[in-house]
Amino acid sequence: MRVLGIESSCDETALAVVSYTNGKPCIERNDIYSQTKEHEQFGGVVPELAARAHIDKLPLMVKDLPLDTLDAIAATTGPGLIGGLHIGYGFGRALALALNIPFYPIHHLEGHALTVRLTDQIDFPYLLLLISGGHTQIIDVQDFRKYKLLGETKDDSCGEVFDKTAKLLNLGFPGGPAIERTALNGDPLRYKLPCPFYRQPHCDFSFSGLKTAIRECITNLSASPLSRMIHQDVADLCASIQRTISTILIDRLTQALKIAPHQQIVVAGGVAANQYIRAHLNTFCEMQQRTLVVPPVKLCTDNAAMIAWTALEMMQRNINPDRMVPTPRWNLMELSHP
Ligand code: KG4
Ligand code: ZN
Repeated sequence: MRVLGIESSCDETALAVVSYTNGKPCIERNDIYSQTKEHEQFGGVVPELAARAHIDKLPLMVKDLPLDTLDAIAATTGPGLIGGLHIGYGFGRALALALNIPFYPIHHLEGHALTVRLTDQIDFPYLLLLISGGHTQIIDVQDFRKYKLLGETKDDSCGEVFDKTAKLLNLGFPGGPAIERTALNGDPLRYKLPCPFYRQPHCDFSFSGLKTAIRECITNLSASPLSRMIHQDVADLCASIQRTISTILIDRLTQALKIAPHQQIVVAGGVAANQYIRAHLNTFCEMQQRTLVVPPVKLCTDNAAMIAWTALEMMQRNINPDRMVPTPRWNLMELSHP
């Protein structure tokens, strides 16, 4: 079985071909056009520009793919920016119609949630920490389409802390990698930042208070006699933010393990690309005698291999494509069966 995946829910235009032969998955192509150039001058993703870039790039990227060998096409159908979703969905559905093969509308977060089964072939169940630009959730993944939400953010996402801080500090776009680079020379213990819900007996998150504290810290430092932050201040702040976020994630996972004490802990979503956070989660899992599984960096951030793979998970179980049309808000739990 060979599936073409299409991802266009935000600012990456991605196409991938994933096959599944004799019980083994294989990523044959994983192409990503990152729209950094289109958005960096605005310090964030501009939905209209993102949609236009998807229209421009998709036909070029599909050109030399082995279309006549495909068994199905899958495209991200939500959640995400509606313009981009319509383009990937319409493109994929039309192509599937022309090739006379099935079309699978895919939930973006299900793609992130199942990526480790593609890269590491792990079995269910596992505890999933999903940390992306749009979402921060802990999910008990009991089986395919048997998802139980244990906790989620009450306000901003984990990725937003990185993106908004990078914007305030003029570190560039996208924020996550910029903060990570800057933090390499910083002291993670210099600034004490708040850890909302610390040790509270539930699995929810809140990041708005941390964002406010970071803004205040930057304002105070900028008002110092030098009236600007020096390089070391910026590096120390970035390092302190990474440490604080690691502490928050580990604290919430500690609570989640009390409810769903699975052996395998999986981390997915763009923030999982952060090496500092990965290292801390790794140490935590070693102490808890759990196995940490994190996809390779290129498959943590948005990609189309995870979209093709989700369709392949359905095809292996003879599950028909969902009847779904592009939807900006779509709760992953709606796919779950009791
Ligand atoms: O999963 P993703 O690629 O897109 C969404 O579905 O949201 O996640 C994007 C988020 C952004 O907030 C970005 O700043 C963050 O992931 N991110 C990182 C890193 N790389 C991407 N955050 C921290 N460190 C990184 N290296
Ligand atoms: Zn994502």
